[in-house]
Amino acid sequence: QAASIPADRVPDMEKRKLMNLLLLGAIGLPTAGMLYPYTYFLVPPGSGGGGGGTPAKDALGNDIVVTEYLKTHGPGDRTLSQGLKGDPTYLVVENDRTLATYGINAVCTHLGCVVPWNKAENKFMCPCHGSQYNNQGKVVRGPAPLSLALAHADVDDGKVVFVPWVETDFRTGEAPWWS
Ligand code: FES
Repeated sequence: QAASIPADRVPDMEKRKLMNLLLLGAIGLPTAGMLYPYTYFLVPPGSGGGGGGTPAKDALGNDIVVTEYLKTHGPGDRTLSQGLKGDPTYLVVENDRTLATYGINAVCTHLGCVVPWNKAENKFMCPCHGSQYNNQGKVVRGPAPLSLALAHADVDDGKVVFVPWVETDFRTGEAPWWS
């Protein structure tokens, strides 16, 4: 009598539970509460992808197709996209009209304001306490203690994907503080 749940329902339940566990495991328990909704949106279970990167999204939440993007973003352009873990991340267009292979995390290393790009000054300038970063995100004025974090901006199937940057920071020659 206890077996009132049809047996064929059980595997589905188990599968669902497993998916949730995998998802939570992938993004880490400490930040799960904060990131779950966003990460779920970005990485629906079973989306696979294969490239291993996180697709960059534009302001409307759409994938970023490089050829289209470069039609409307000229040399020197720095425009925010949605990056790893949902962090606002600048895509950079090089002077030769190609997309830079790195993205710049816009979260100020002082207290976390999103740092706007100031084209006239050729710097990222934080409105909160005046920190400044050069056009590659290297800190040039405090109180920010560190340069802006980097992410690899790769192209997969014509679209931009971000991959964690774990190598030496090319701007400072030092190990990345963010990984
Ligand atoms: Fe950017 Fe303080 S948060 S300078």
